[in-house]
Formats: sequence, C-alpha cells, structure tokens
Amino acid sequence: MITAIKAAPRLDSRGNPTVQLDLTTEHGVFRAIVPSGASTGANEAVELRDGDPSNYSGKSVHKAIHNVENIIGPALIKSGLRVETDQKKIDELLIALDGTKNKANLGANAILGVSMACARAGAAAAGLELYEFLRRESGAKKPYVMPVPFFNVLNGGVHSGNKMAFQENMIAPVGASSFSEAVRMSSEVYQHLKQILTKQFGASAVGIGDEGGFAPPISQPHEALDLLVEAVSEAGYEGKIKFAIDPASSEFFKNGTYDLGFKDDAPNPLSPEQLMDLYHSLLSKYPIVLLEDPFAENDWASWTEFCKNCPVELVGDDLLVTNKIYVQEAHEKKACTAMLLKINQIGTISEALEAANLAYRYGWSVFVSHRSGETTDDFIADLVVGLRTGHIKSGAPCRGERVAKYNRLIEIEEALLARGEEVVYAGAKFSAASRL
Ligand code: PGA
Ligand code: ZN
Repeated sequence: MITAIKAAPRLDSRGNPTVQLDLTTEHGVFRAIVPSGASTGANEAVELRDGDPSNYSGKSVHKAIHNVENIIGPALIKSGLRVETDQKKIDELLIALDGTKNKANLGANAILGVSMACARAGAAAAGLELYEFLRRESGAKKPYVMPVPFFNVLNGGVHSGNKMAFQENMIAPVGASSFSEAVRMSSEVYQHLKQILTKQFGASAVGIGDEGGFAPPISQPHEALDLLVEAVSEAGYEGKIKFAIDPASSEFFKNGTYDLGFKDDAPNPLSPEQLMDLYHSLLSKYPIVLLEDPFAENDWASWTEFCKNCPVELVGDDLLVTNKIYVQEAHEKKACTAMLLKINQIGTISEALEAANLAYRYGWSVFVSHRSGETTDDFIADLVVGLRTGHIKSGAPCRGERVAKYNRLIEIEEALLARGEEVVYAGAKFSAASRL
C-alpha cells in the first residue's frame, strides 16, 4: 500500500533542477530521480518547468513538485492500487489525472518519477529485483540477455563546446564475452583515446562533454572515427569493438538542409541526398553497426529513402520519442528498424514497455538510452535486462551518473551468474536480443 509520496528539487548532471521522488509503502521508502535531455524531440512528453527567470533561470520545477504532492499523491493513495500488481493501472491513473496527450498538464517529469518509484516499490513488495519485476511487466522471455554497452566516448553537437556537428561517437564492444569484459575493454580504449588526444592536441583537449566523452577540437565526422580506430587498435581490440553514431540531426536541420557547420562560423549545408552519401561513405570505411537519428524528426522522406538500403541498425530517437503512435507511423512508412527507448520521452514505465513491445512486434530492435542530463538513478540498467533489448547507451565509462548504470549492470550480471541462471551476452547479435 502506498502511504506517502514526497517530491523535492535536486540537481541533474548539468546542474539544472530536476524532480526527486520518495514513495513510501509498508516495505520502505523508494526513490526515483528524473533525467532531462538537451537535444529533445519536438514530440516528447512535456518537461514542466516554472519559467521564472529569477529561479534557476526559468528551470525550477516547483509546479511539477506541487503536482506530485497535491494532485498525484493524494489520488494514488486514495485509489488503493497495489504497487506489486497494478503498475499498468497506476500509470493509467497518472495519464488520466493529467488528461492531455503529452502530459503538459501535470508534467512528464512529475509523472515519470511516480511511475518509476512505483515500479521500485512494486518489485520490493513482490520480493523481486527491479529487472525481474520489469521482465514480468514486459512479458520478456528468458534467458537473461546482458546488453552491449554503447559508450559515447567523443561528444559533439549540443553536448559539447567543440565544433563537431555530430553529437555522439560510440564504441560498442560486441566481441566481448560478458558485460563486465565489455566494460573493461571499453574503459581501456577510453584511456588510450585520452593519451592519443593529449599527444595530438595537448592536455586541454581531454575535457569532457555532457555524456563523459572527450570533446577535442575536431569538426568532421571522419576525424572522430579515425580517432576511434586508433584508440581501439592501440588497446588491441581491432575487430572486437565496433562503432555507432548519433548525429542528432534534428539539431542542425534548417530549411530542408543539414548544416554540419552549425557550431562553426562557416555554414556547411548539405542536402539530404548529400548527407545520405556521407553516411554511406562512413559506413563503408568504418566498422559502424548502428546509426541513430541520421535525419531530422520531420524529414520522414529521407528516413524512408535511406532505410531501403541501410546495412546497419537504423534507430529512431527524436523521430519516435518512445511513443507507440510514432512507432506505428514509422512502421507504415518503413522509416527505421529500431526504437530508442528514453523513459522520460513518454513519461510512464507502462507506456515505454508498450512502445517497446510494439517495436518488437514489427521485428525491430530496441535500444535503451540515458539522457544527456542524468542523475545517479540507475533504473534503466534494470530496464534493459528486464526488457531484453540487448543494447544500452549510458555515455562514456566516466562520470558518476553515467557509470552508475554500467556498475549496476555488472552487479546484475554477477548476481545472475551466482544464482546459476542462464545468461547470454548479446554481443554481435544485439539487434536480435529479444529473439535470442
Ligand atoms: P539528449 O541526447 O538526452 O540530450 O536528448 C541523447 C540523444 O540524443 O540520444
Ligand atoms: Zn539520439
């Protein structure tokens, strides 16, 4: 039984306020802290901010906190819904209390915190680990699949102060034999990358961006990928570590063109066709296994055109915003082959699971993701195992809010093995993890 719900403002990894939730049941107090994006999709659920310039430059979240304590909390306590069995009904109640399509009324930041805390409380009440509770909720089958961690080791776009238009350059240790080995290999590559950057650009070049990756003074996609090739080779993992890119291209799409110089003084606009050629050339030259948001959220025609002949997993982030309506539209338009899953894009755990299961039904993959503004909350680590998505991105192997998720996954892997469970590391089959 839920007996109390408290919300309070806390800081996220960029130093902006966010909502922290404490939900009390007879089993204890269960906490959740809500993340926040920078390159957000236009159709994401609404993150409610107060807009008072004198308070955190307009970013304070008192309205969201007020909504938790005065509207959601009392209604949920009165409902008598049980956290161990009623997650879906709880989320439906939250959606109904808000009454809008995009949670603009109570705020997705208010609603998500409650939904996450209920799942944690539900797991405890049912005597389950959170990943097991989420597995039960999602209907995912065994064996347990440990995900390939995609580490964003070079940050660009709106996540860093360098001139690089592409937001994320990730390494994916598909050739590891376990999750913990994948972390070790990638951490070694990260340290080699640091040395290479220091040698090439000087010690000031190893400052990091929002997701813990380095942000050296480079601008072109091939410069980033060449650095990754060198670091992987120096670490001795050629062939075992592949790459992925998230250009987050909605950020530099203007008037029908993609301006790769949007952070530079010199504009460098590419037509969608020129950008497609650039991707094909990068895909042929580098061991890339996944491409996310190569086109803007409203440039559906380019997505569909590119998807006809895309040899790697094509992930929709801003395009889909973890919302089954856009997943369905993308399926009809044959626009992509995978859904990025960010829980705060949609605002409740049940809706995120529903969108993921719809993606699975279309034969797609699901890629679980953190946000650039994160917290030490490690909920998504359990989510990726519970939903058996086979891959997760949580930034570089650096910064507490990033490694909290990776460390929790190491802990889950250790616990499953100690219990004698069958555990599969997704490896090169990460796209097909739900069907392994
Ligand atoms: P965001 O970036 O959290 O700033 O949206 C992550 C991403 O685009 O995948
Ligand atoms: Zn993205």
